[in-house]
Amino acid sequence: MLLQENIQNVLSEIQQLTAKDEKELEGLRIKYLSKKGVVAQLMAEFRNVSADQKKELGIALNQLKNAALDKINNLREGLHANKCQCDTQVDLTRTPYPIPLGTRHPLSIIRNEIIDIFTRLGFSLADGPEIEDDLHVFTKMNFAADHPARDMQDTFFIETSQDNVEKNVILRSHTSSVQARVMETQQPPIRVICPGRVFRNETITARAHCFFHQVEGLYIDKNVSFADLKQVLLLFAQEMFGKDTKIRLRPSYFPFTEPSAEMDISCHICGGKGCSFCKHTGWVEILGCGMVDPNVLELSGIDSKIYSGYAFGMGIERITNLKYMIKDLRLFSENDVRFLKEFISAN
Ligand code: PHE
Repeated sequence: MLLQENIQNVLSEIQQLTAKDEKELEGLRIKYLSKKGVVAQLMAEFRNVSADQKKELGIALNQLKNAALDKINNLREGLHANKCQCDTQVDLTRTPYPIPLGTRHPLSIIRNEIIDIFTRLGFSLADGPEIEDDLHVFTKMNFAADHPARDMQDTFFIETSQDNVEKNVILRSHTSSVQARVMETQQPPIRVICPGRVFRNETITARAHCFFHQVEGLYIDKNVSFADLKQVLLLFAQEMFGKDTKIRLRPSYFPFTEPSAEMDISCHICGGKGCSFCKHTGWVEILGCGMVDPNVLELSGIDSKIYSGYAFGMGIERITNLKYMIKDLRLFSENDVRFLKEFISAN
């Protein structure tokens, strides 16, 4: 019965065989199935088996041999299957098509250019909330109590309940509110620009929108003069629109600056000669500016006897229109990819 035991042992050994590669598998084949292999040796012992056991052990030996063959074949198939899987393995993280490179929104391109110019002049960035209160948008900016901008016709007021329009919570109608925020937390010298989105209660047309973007500038220090303002704005205009650009300041009015001005640049299309773009004046308007009204400084706790400052505010859409000749403001917010794809920028 020794042979029978051996057969059983070898059988369970074979059932547990594994091979990690072809070489190991070939080793197993030689060990069990070659001419001098384990199975052949057991077969050799079969000769010495007594006649009454021959039938039973003969069947067992045959089963062992077949089991060994099957096992080796199965292991071989397993190795093949794995190998095929490696060769054709699909990378599920890859996109089925190349991802097209996006373009920057034209307003972002121009905003970045404006930021770049002013940061090179020593201005740093500041920002404030789009949902503001009356204090920062109007009161601290020296708006009279009955100023029309405080009217619901011009400014969006937030409805807190169905019939209660909260007069104190508004969508800021200009980035000048950030001036008030900055003055609350910083002491002069202050030199900031504040890009951001503003909202006005306007019907949407090609020339007006209920939201648009501005960049505010504020500079407060000792002895800041109108000449400083003019020089910085000239530098900005020439960086933005080219070295030959001229500027012109026209007297204007804003509650928060005194004196106030509006700035035109020489029309960069006709070079100032006059064309349909500049309505044959040779000039196009680009921003509002002025010396910070002493009242504004005082309302924010800055001593107007020691400090003075200038401020300016420009519409990013306006500058973008001038640079790219975009006639319809609505294009900026429609997200039509055919429009957006036209703008390639370096930054
Ligand atoms: N806040 C003004 C506007 O929205 C622009 C401005 C800013 C004018 C700063 C003067 C100084 O039209």
